[in-house]
Amino acid sequence: MNLAATVADKAGKAWHQASTQLDQQRQQFAQDVVAGLSARQKTLPCKYLYDEAGSKLFEAICELDDYYLTRTEGQIFEYRLPEIAQALGPEVVLLEPGAGNCEKAEPLLAAMSEPVAYYPLDISPEILLAAQRRIQGQLPQLEVVPVIGDFTDPAAWDSLPKSHYRKVLFFPGSTIGNFTPEKARELLCQFSAQLSSGDGLLIGADLVKDSVVLERAYHDSNHVTEAFNKNLLHRINSELQGNFDIDAFAHRAFYHSLRQRVEMHLVSLAAQSVEVAGTQFHFTEGETIHTENSHKYTLPGLQALLQETGFNTKQYWTDNNHHYAIFYAEVP
Ligand SMILES: C[S@@+](CC[C@H](N)C(=O)[O-])C[C@H]1O[C@@H](n2cnc3c(N)ncnc32)[C@H](O)[C@@H]1O
Repeated sequence: MNLAATVADKAGKAWHQASTQLDQQRQQFAQDVVAGLSARQKTLPCKYLYDEAGSKLFEAICELDDYYLTRTEGQIFEYRLPEIAQALGPEVVLLEPGAGNCEKAEPLLAAMSEPVAYYPLDISPEILLAAQRRIQGQLPQLEVVPVIGDFTDPAAWDSLPKSHYRKVLFFPGSTIGNFTPEKARELLCQFSAQLSSGDGLLIGADLVKDSVVLERAYHDSNHVTEAFNKNLLHRINSELQGNFDIDAFAHRAFYHSLRQRVEMHLVSLAAQSVEVAGTQFHFTEGETIHTENSHKYTLPGLQALLQETGFNTKQYWTDNNHHYAIFYAEVP
């Protein structure tokens, strides 16, 4: 079979897998939305921000001047890529939970010594499958197998191909920040349980800094983050027969210094009732739906978290302003 046919075959199988999983995902989405909107502090899991439109809006956020995270992480990778690739070692299988458009993996794989395979895992099928075609075109000798699924779900990890090569988990983009400290601990323990002695974790995390810089990143002057946040309501309306009046909600993002996190909310601008999946929910004026947390770390805090969850830090890199950090750690 020629290369184009192999890529088309893999993409076809991945689409089939994606469509059967979509029904299950939608049922889970309905359950999670009804449970979240029934809570005293209404809340929605942030993973649902990423449908096709949400993933595109997130890509647009990454381009914003106000959103320093992607730019800063990108600069660290640009200047430190040879060192980082060397730390990871040769003949590695790179697994990327929450891979999105896989744009950070591409230069990393190109700099690594004889990478064996790349397995990106993401909840958002369209963006992942487009990325697979791009990467496979760029690195034709590499085995690229995209897996559609929830990286917090052990079943998603079971669908990854098995390999006897060393594994490195790649977890950039400050995705760890979307988890509360307890949930981050659980997730990293789940990650280390997937690995064997000598396997690694390359993780990017945003660091504690001035609240003005932090709040601007999540409340940008171009209103792209607002559109990203409100897209969740559009998604509920279209997928779960919701009747949210989008203009009756405002985007709010603020830094909670005690919890060291930026919280993103949708604020009800009036007393109103909304129906979702056949259930009525009442909002008082000013009541919020908590849609995302972005926790910020200190260097010792991140190192301690890695230690507690089964990883030994080998090396870390930051930018000159100490705004962002990339850690490489291994399972002892
Ligand atoms: C903050 S973005 C980071 C994307 C990319 N890794 C980067 O660094 O630019 C988070 C990504 O994780 C995905 N994601 C979020 N929660 C997820 C989950 N529970 N399971 C799988 N993917 C998830 C989203 O679809 C999105 O692509």
